[in-house]
Amino acid sequence: MTSVHTSLYPLARPRRLRRDAFTRDLVRENRLGAQDLIYPVFVQEGQGLRTPVPSMPGVARLSLDELLPVARECVALGIPYLALFPVIEASLKTPDGEEALNPDGLIPRVVQALKNECPDLGILTDVALDPYTSHGQDGLLDAQGHILNDETVGQLTRQALVQAQAGVDMVAPSDMMDGRIGAIRQGLESNGFFYTRIMAYSAKYASAFYGPFRDAVGSAANLGKSDKKTYQMDPGNSNEALREVALDLAEGADAVMVKPGMPYLDIVRRVKDEFGVPTFAYQVSGEYAMLKAAAANGWLDHDAVMLESLLAFKRAGADGILTYFALDAARLLRQP
Ligand code: PBG
Repeated sequence: MTSVHTSLYPLARPRRLRRDAFTRDLVRENRLGAQDLIYPVFVQEGQGLRTPVPSMPGVARLSLDELLPVARECVALGIPYLALFPVIEASLKTPDGEEALNPDGLIPRVVQALKNECPDLGILTDVALDPYTSHGQDGLLDAQGHILNDETVGQLTRQALVQAQAGVDMVAPSDMMDGRIGAIRQGLESNGFFYTRIMAYSAKYASAFYGPFRDAVGSAANLGKSDKKTYQMDPGNSNEALREVALDLAEGADAVMVKPGMPYLDIVRRVKDEFGVPTFAYQVSGEYAMLKAAAANGWLDHDAVMLESLLAFKRAGADGILTYFALDAARLLRQP
């Protein structure tokens, strides 16, 4: 007779479900697909230009003709949206960032061209003045150098309207001025742009992880030693992120964003749980640079870490991720 010492054997063995790949596939709670990804790209004037960003290996500032094939590949891979960031020539930068309002400027022309060539690819544009200002700040300054909130909001509203006129699908105010979502929404509605969506950078922190991005758009040198702490959020704060999201939703945002990404997954989870609205996260330039640098040194497995980091956003509750890895990840995910 066999004796059974049940106390010696666990009846529940979580490892049963991990024993083979097909069972792990069956019970996986969160999945990553190309449809989760938004691809941020840097555009510049010119022809045949791909200017690498040294602090972002694999990322280049593209002229429109170089961007078009990238956009077509996004469509082929099932990436639903491209996020555009302009590299503005130094001679066009002014204290008030007026070039941001030029209907024939770089971004409006690129939006028109992309919507003509790839009507089924969503286009997201940044609403913020920093690529256009000679001081590199996201807002207008008073004589003492303080950011003027309401004057800046007026400028941002005009910028968003120029982008909407060019045919953009979604605008993403990334400036963190108070009241800008409401002002932009009213501006869009009163001009007949009822379907221009707003993805608000609601919880955008004053982060050191944006360094490589500022190199890419050329605002780092202009910004110098000054920072953005009077408008972007303090990295120590969490409840404040919920207040910011609540305001943006009340003011008419269709979707909200948390930024940066990986170091702020707790915020993504809180926002998703509290509001249950379309919630996005931005895996920013510094996060990308960290992973690329470690992979280049052979310290991390590039593809494995890339996919794991992106899946972590889904697990935290994000509906989608803005990531410079979008093309690489989508290509990998497509493989059988
Ligand atoms: C500009 C803007 C920034 C980023 C997106 N929009 C930089 C900043 O706020 O200084 C950062 C993106 C990244 O680091 O990848 N308002």
